[in-house]
Amino acid sequence: MFKIAIDGPGGAGKSTIAKAVAKRLGIVYVDTGALYRTVGYFVRSKNVDPKDAEAVSALLPQISIEIKYIEGAQHVFLNGEDLGDRIRTPEMSMYASAVSAIGNVRAFLLDTQRDIAKKNSVIMDGRDIGTVILPDAEVKIFLTASEECRARRRYNELLEKGEKVTYEDVLREMNERDKNDSTRDIAPTAAAEDALLLDNSDLSFEESVDAVINIVKEKGLLA
Ligand code: DC
Repeated sequence: MFKIAIDGPGGAGKSTIAKAVAKRLGIVYVDTGALYRTVGYFVRSKNVDPKDAEAVSALLPQISIEIKYIEGAQHVFLNGEDLGDRIRTPEMSMYASAVSAIGNVRAFLLDTQRDIAKKNSVIMDGRDIGTVILPDAEVKIFLTASEECRARRRYNELLEKGEKVTYEDVLREMNERDKNDSTRDIAPTAAAEDALLLDNSDLSFEESVDAVINIVKEKGLLA
């Protein structure tokens, strides 16, 4: 068994690339952002300010989060309910980012993430996977791209989903969220000391997937 950690800012393509790598290698893909989004969703449903650490922490005992794989795809269940794409809106991105700065929230989600990696070979994406969640991962990649590229990809993704957004809004929200995530006190977005930096601004999706697989091969992890 082995672990691949992929961290980086929003819009670098972490999840789509990690998903494709998981499929090619026959390992489990874990999207950890979905867990923070789920906590954010619950906090929103209770009309609680996601920046209020005390109020958010007080809600945690009411939350049960489970990750299940249905036909190979990750589904997150909140108190038994599959939230599906309801956690994928720009509003939920901001809620997730706000609650993720709270230490109690991060501690609450720690075991769920580590337990999956104990039982399976995984490729896990997030912000603190190589630094905090899986510091002993055999492969650590910090995936990034230029701000323009990342915003453009995110914008196209949202358009495809039918969201009514402007490029300027997407760029502003992306930068605001990346700033929140990389300047917070606890487990900020960061490359682990032993992470490889992969900038995929000029790479196609397929080339990015190949680049990750080549890094894994070079570590001698594939037969
Ligand atoms: O990867 P994403 O956009 O779905 O993540 C949503 C938010 O969750 C992100 O803005 C910061 C937080 N997050 C985190 O703090 N640590 C992780 N490992 C993954 C996500």
